[in-house]
Amino acid sequence: MSDQRPTNIVWHDGEITPNDRAKVLRHQGCTLWLTGLSGSGKSTIGVALEKALIGRGLLAYRLDGDNVRHGLNANLGFSADDREENIRRVGEVAKLFADAGVITISSFISPYQRDRDRVRKIHEDNSIRFLEVFVDTPLEVCESRDPKGLYKKARAGEIKGFTGIDDPYEIPLDPDVHISTNLLSVSKAVDLLVNHLQKTGIVRR
Ligand code: ADX
Repeated sequence: MSDQRPTNIVWHDGEITPNDRAKVLRHQGCTLWLTGLSGSGKSTIGVALEKALIGRGLLAYRLDGDNVRHGLNANLGFSADDREENIRRVGEVAKLFADAGVITISSFISPYQRDRDRVRKIHEDNSIRFLEVFVDTPLEVCESRDPKGLYKKARAGEIKGFTGIDDPYEIPLDPDVHISTNLLSVSKAVDLLVNHLQKTGIVRR
């Protein structure tokens, strides 16, 4: 990838504000950033949350690690640099969706606090709401579920640098929402997130 930075580019403002879009959609855009280990339940909760929000007539859309890595980020692996670039790109995409008024649900391991904080910053610098959601499932539980058989491969040394095994996961320092999946079912986790969206005024119904 070229390190070259573009020059001679000038931001072009539009005439529509996020409030104009919120009037059409009857809710604000935001990003719910689900972070946690592989197999922690981020995607499962994301899918159920998207369904619940659409069922209430709210425009929600999911961005998911495994899916985005099939397309936009197909050229990235799992080194720290590639994970950083993965999260940078997805953070920008989430920001665009949220700016467009969509309740954006992103499910990425996003193991580094610094990368997650950067995504928060690009949202907040643009006055767009960002909620960090820690999907907290102990490693032993993720490993016993092993839905894709990847922990087994990582333990066997067939995958190097697997998060939680031989690659780090930095626990969120101050998440907006903490979901202990040991204590909450998927539907209770969805209720918690919907309540949080209502409590923070992002959605009104
Ligand atoms: S992130 O660390 O860059 O945020 P992301 O969420 O996009 O990761 O992708 C994680 C998914 O990629 C996992 O759920 C798993 O299916 C797959 N995967 C493949 N190799 C690895 C690895 N070395 N570490 C973690 N996940 C991996």
